[in-house]
Amino acid sequence: MAQKRPAPMVGIVMGSDSDLPVMQKAATILSQFGVPFEMHVMSAHRTPGRAHDYAASAHARGLKVLIAGAGMAAHLAGVLAASTPLPVLGVPINSGALEGLDALLATVQMPSGIPVGTLAIDGSRNAALLAVQILATSDCALQARILDYKAAMVDQVAAKDARVQAALHHESQEALPFP
Ligand code: RP5
Repeated sequence: MAQKRPAPMVGIVMGSDSDLPVMQKAATILSQFGVPFEMHVMSAHRTPGRAHDYAASAHARGLKVLIAGAGMAAHLAGVLAASTPLPVLGVPINSGALEGLDALLATVQMPSGIPVGTLAIDGSRNAALLAVQILATSDCALQARILDYKAAMVDQVAAKDARVQAALHHESQEALPFP
């Protein structure tokens, strides 16, 4: 018999399938941490009813955090936040003439009372990491994985520094981008 899939804890939502290359990176992070998620396309402007219904029912379906990515006049995260008690993380997407600045301002400048935790332009990886950290406040095993992730980053930076030091002090110095 097929195993039942675990119920999603994070909802990744994006305004269009053109946002998928960016938002896919959030999905990859959640998979790495073993956090079950679902992913949908819906729009604050093109499908306002669906966006409202999704947000209003998300907590009752067991979701714990929503991540919303949208570009241009990016109201998706704010519209979801208006109708859910869950924390909403907004990812402004670089998808137009203003290269994401439009989406950043539309996502971050929420009126008092309806918060959206806004990440960097195209910052979907950090949105997913923050979602994992939120979930980890009540999940010791997940918190341990976050600590492992941070420890691995320390090792990676140390290895990068070691390579720069080696290049500085040895024969490969000419490969460095300074005289
Ligand atoms: C936004 O408009 C979407 O989030 C997307 O970033 C942008 C362009 O959408 P498409 O015209 O590619 O569907 O609503």
